[in-house]
Amino acid sequence: MSEAVAAVGEGASDAAVPTVEVEGLTKVYQAGDPDLAVRALDGLDFRIERGDSVAIVGPSGCGKSTLLHVLGCLDRPTSGRYRLEGQDVANLDEDALARIRNHHIGFVFQSFNLLPRMSAVENVELPLLYAGVSGGRERALSALARVGLADQAHRWPNELSGGQNQRVAIARALVTRPSLLLGDEPTGALDSGTSADVLDLLTTLHDEGTTLVLVTHDIAVARRLRRAIWMRDGRIVDDGPSGPVLDAFIEATAGGADAPA
Ligand SMILES: Nc1ncnc2c1ncn2[C@@H]1O[C@H](COP(=O)(O)OP(=O)(O)OP(=O)(O)O)[C@@H](O)[C@H]1O
Ligand SMILES: [Mg+2]
Repeated sequence: MSEAVAAVGEGASDAAVPTVEVEGLTKVYQAGDPDLAVRALDGLDFRIERGDSVAIVGPSGCGKSTLLHVLGCLDRPTSGRYRLEGQDVANLDEDALARIRNHHIGFVFQSFNLLPRMSAVENVELPLLYAGVSGGRERALSALARVGLADQAHRWPNELSGGQNQRVAIARALVTRPSLLLGDEPTGALDSGTSADVLDLLTTLHDEGTTLVLVTHDIAVARRLRRAIWMRDGRIVDDGPSGPVLDAFIEATAGGADAPA
């Protein structure tokens, strides 16, 4: 009995730490001439609770990929705070960021980003090699089995379909058991049937406890997630349960306010 209480207590305190917490998050791209500086992220404040699923929507150039890169520790903010699972990561150096990426974050890109001269299982095993984890091959094979590709493990990316390659990329993203799974248009290069399969897979992973954040232009994809953040010009226009936020976004887009540039 007391063990059960202790376990619940532990879980509760863990759950109280948000996966992501940002304050005043700003990214300025400087292109030589200071007049040409782009404020891609302009003082964002938000939290993402553990286990939540969040769509990021907004017109082209509004800062969605920049935000995802900063959240994924692929890039550092110019100013502001970023706490990932309670740890301040905004000012870490490259090596420390790489360690955080290896252990906490899975990233899925529109273009898969698989290494062409490696088989599916070698691609999936790579993050474990970087992380210095032993038994990588077995874990990579079981990650491939989870995405339904156990029998394709030794094929090369050019021998697999787009949807299969994206599933390999998802296996690679989940093999380190990340707490935060980020996708930048993960279904953008896929036909609608394949896109639905990939989305089912991502939402299954989310149901098992991974925090999921997807940038998407596809409103049907965004609707599958619980929450939506609508961005414009590096700022948040609206943030809340996905249904109402996406309805407002579509209405604004139809009115031209958020039509792609
Ligand atoms: N490396 C860079 N150097 C300079 N400016 C950049 C760089 N990357 C992005 N930008 C600029 O920052 C702004 C935000 O870009 P970002 O790629 O985040 O937009 P996005 O919302 O992902 O757009 P899309 O929907 O087209 O992918 C844009 O004005 C873009 O031109
Ligand atoms: Mg983008």
